[in-house]
Amino acid sequence: MGYPDGVSGPGFYQSRLQRPGAVLAPMAGYSDAPMRQLAAEQGALWTVSEMISARGLMGGGDTEKLNLGRPYPGEQDRVVQLFGAESEVLAGAVARVEAWFAPAAIDLNMGCPVPKIRGRGGACLLQTPETAYELVRAMRSATTLDVSAKIRMGWDHDRSVEVAQGLEAAGVALITVHGRTSAQRYTGEADWDAIARVAAAVRVPVVGSGDITTPAVARERQRRGVAAVMIGRGAVGNPWIFRALATGDEARPDAHERARTALRHAELQEQFYDDDTGRLTLRPLRKVLPQYLPDHPELRDVLTQVLTAADVRRALAPLLGERRTHAAPGEYAVSHS
Ligand SMILES: Cc1cc2nc3c(=O)[nH]c(=O)nc-3n(C[C@H](O)[C@H](O)[C@H](O)COP(=O)(O)O)c2cc1C
Repeated sequence: MGYPDGVSGPGFYQSRLQRPGAVLAPMAGYSDAPMRQLAAEQGALWTVSEMISARGLMGGGDTEKLNLGRPYPGEQDRVVQLFGAESEVLAGAVARVEAWFAPAAIDLNMGCPVPKIRGRGGACLLQTPETAYELVRAMRSATTLDVSAKIRMGWDHDRSVEVAQGLEAAGVALITVHGRTSAQRYTGEADWDAIARVAAAVRVPVVGSGDITTPAVARERQRRGVAAVMIGRGAVGNPWIFRALATGDEARPDAHERARTALRHAELQEQFYDDDTGRLTLRPLRKVLPQYLPDHPELRDVLTQVLTAADVRRALAPLLGERRTHAAPGEYAVSHS
């Protein structure tokens, strides 16, 4: 659908937020192209790449072949997340991302708490939010795509409303809030009261993130004034959580279908990482594959040793060969092998 010249249509985020559903979180080491593809196929509103260093992109080493940014064939509705702390570097990186990676929008990481890589970026920006506002302005000057930011509540105490209002004034199209401070890392529980306060304090859409593991929890969180919820760890080995929230179909696939999807994940992995980056084998998937089949602990050992999709097929043969279709909604169908 086109818009007349000079009239801009709704941005990417506004148009996607017209639909029901949830967002796949950026997760370094997880939300790569194969995971994003499976989530998108199940109806994720959009997906977010693993964070990419703006300096890396501008330093000359990274190219359009960079696996962290490269889309899978036909990928749509994928947000690219950048990490950095310098305006010129981020503006340049935005231009490269747009030229190379076909992003739907670009997100600024303001939440990474890992000391080794945070430098002055990531969650450090929560201590110097004025810098973040400058970064957002610089990023916006480099693209017509939506620019968003993903924050934690603060560095060691909650200043999320102040930061969100500053980001809104700097022109972000959307803010995602992970309801923990940087000091908390991933401990304790996400503070959805704090997320709700941010959602009430700004006009731009707010996406809430933290500890959503089931459709029921997602629906409860959606009532907290957020435009959408984001799901990270709860989507590992469980792309169907997006189908449940997009369509209301909560039927948990039986073990046969989950095994087929685990195998497909492995096949997508082999197809996407067809180069020599060390992801050629399935090593990174060893932590993921057992999560498709929590009700089959007997497969855990063999799934954590696979090297190829053929290994996965062999490991899952007992489940791939049989079919049980009558899983009750929300229930794991345990196959009796
Ligand atoms: C392994 C892992 C990697 C993550 N990497 C990123 C990242 O690259 N960028 C980011 O903004 N957040 C990252 N996060 C935070 C998640 O996006 C999310 O906000 C957080 O995990 C809470 O949501 P959850 O409970 O649904 O997982 C990461 C989280 C985990 C567990």
